[in-house]
Amino acid sequence: MFRLRCPTANGTGHPLRLGPGALDVLPALWRPEWRAAALVADRTVLALHGPAVLRHLRRCAPAIRVYEVPPGDRHKSAATWLRLADRMLADRLGRDTCLVALGGGVALDLGGFLAATFLRGIPHLLLPTTLLATVDASLGGKTGINRPAGKNLLGAFRVPAAVLADTALLDTLPAREWRGGLAEVVKHAVVADAALFARLEHEGRALRRPGSLDVPTLARAIRVKLDVVARDPFERGRRRVLNFGHTLGHALEAATGHRVHHGAAVAVGMAVEAELAVRLARFPAADRDRLAGLLAVLGLPTRHACPFERLLPHLEVDKKRRDGKVHLALPARLGRMAGGRTGWTLPVAPSELRAAWETRAGRTGRPA
Ligand SMILES: NC(=O)c1ccc[n+]([C@@H]2O[C@H](COP(=O)([O-])OP(=O)(O)OC[C@H]3O[C@@H](n4cnc5c(N)ncnc54)[C@H](O)[C@@H]3O)[C@@H](O)[C@H]2O)c1
Ligand SMILES: [Zn+2]
Repeated sequence: MFRLRCPTANGTGHPLRLGPGALDVLPALWRPEWRAAALVADRTVLALHGPAVLRHLRRCAPAIRVYEVPPGDRHKSAATWLRLADRMLADRLGRDTCLVALGGGVALDLGGFLAATFLRGIPHLLLPTTLLATVDASLGGKTGINRPAGKNLLGAFRVPAAVLADTALLDTLPAREWRGGLAEVVKHAVVADAALFARLEHEGRALRRPGSLDVPTLARAIRVKLDVVARDPFERGRRRVLNFGHTLGHALEAATGHRVHHGAAVAVGMAVEAELAVRLARFPAADRDRLAGLLAVLGLPTRHACPFERLLPHLEVDKKRRDGKVHLALPARLGRMAGGRTGWTLPVAPSELRAAWETRAGRTGRPA
């Protein structure tokens, strides 16, 4: 089992436990002043792993209430947030309640936001059950819900009391969700850990199987995000490096009505942004090819047939300038991002973006 400490803005940090059986430490982390547990859980995860989680909770929480979150990003909504908050109020839960969020990024973001707002804030624990939530959504203190105007537009920074990432729970992940999480692991390797990148290349196709990443490799991917967040807890600059692959990825998701999975869209986004990095940030062409090669080996796409015109409305163009540019986080080489002196992004003209998108579209590689 890995024991990590997650840095927090106030400098104290909180514990993270990673590995099979991480849930066993729940009683040791449970505080005597927490008189009730509000388990806010993804419905699918509850069906698969609820009995095991409840068994652990019964060993420490004097009272337990369970609140289901229907699966899917559209349920990370104001409606679900209000419905669960009202139920918790009807159940007369007080400030001595610890909210336990169980599931992927949806249940964790929603649960964290509930914890931040319920009775002006109650403590919470995060129990991630997807690869993405393990290496990304459970880290860094961002919580929130979606609005029709966009994703994650209402939220709060709220640090959990602890993160318990029991990797045994990842074995039941559908292949698509696992692959999506792999894209984020690759992203972390490109951003700050060339040795992690090489390790992923070494494992290759074997990583396609859900649950196949070993705990030390997961810990490396986690450390990349923790390091970045420690240096920029409120996203003032450096944290933008974590957007690698996401500017184009988000545009592709939006342009296709979210029919392309987030992880697949990020994979395409990384492949295209790597083309731009070669042109604009001296990213070696050999590194670009290694990245596209690794994504393909992992079963992730590196191109998409969507015409560039359909992406354009979804790209955040800087409207203050006539030649409105898009600001991208680009790698300088595998394991290091460019732009340290200019706020960690580089301005890219839409014409350059179009050229990179169309170059990739013409390349061989797995389409999304
Ligand atoms: N807070 C942050 O810093 C942060 C960072 C990245 C992403 N996010 C958010 O995370 C969300 C995406 O998270 P996600 O990819 O984990 O998706 P998710 O929570 O929607 O889970 C994906 C699917 O997997 C199922 N599932 C979860 N765990 C399972 C398991 N162990 N076995 C079987 N099925 C399981 C769920 O029911 C769901 O259908 C987005 O809303 C995104 O905005 C937040
Ligand atoms: Zn992502």
